[in-house]
Amino acid sequence: MAEIDWKDLRAKAYEAMGRAYAPYSGFPVGAAALTRDGRVVSGCNVENVSHGIGLCAECVLVGNLISGGGGRLRAVAVCDARGAALAPCGRCRQLLLEHGGPELSVDTVEGPLPMSVLLPLAFGPGDLDAVRRGGVDA
Ligand code: THU
Repeated sequence: MAEIDWKDLRAKAYEAMGRAYAPYSGFPVGAAALTRDGRVVSGCNVENVSHGIGLCAECVLVGNLISGGGGRLRAVAVCDARGAALAPCGRCRQLLLEHGGPELSVDTVEGPLPMSVLLPLAFGPGDLDAVRRGGVDA
């Protein structure tokens, strides 16, 4: 598999940040991800007057991934208005884990790190299976 072009991914996240709808926080965020089959998908935060229902950039990215045909995520970059790497919030770590797995490479201020480092001991399909295997009383 080809090298991950982090420079390109960071630039695409910055571009997406420019399309953010963040009138309430004034904090635009952009996210871009490389899929295992070589596509780039992106997203930006989309806020709402009902503040709690705003969408994070990573959430919109995942929606675009699935509505664009799906696939697995290989690497993701998220940035703020300065273009600096932004740590995905806890909810978004779980969203990204679903579509990239623990080996998904996530850009951070310390450089790319696997999701298993950002979200250790994560809740996953194995937790559901364990109860299903054990029956309803397990
Ligand atoms: N935000 C994201 O888009 N992604 C994150 O991982 C952290 C926070 C957005 C949510 C809100 O629109 C704004 O940043 C300020 O919290």
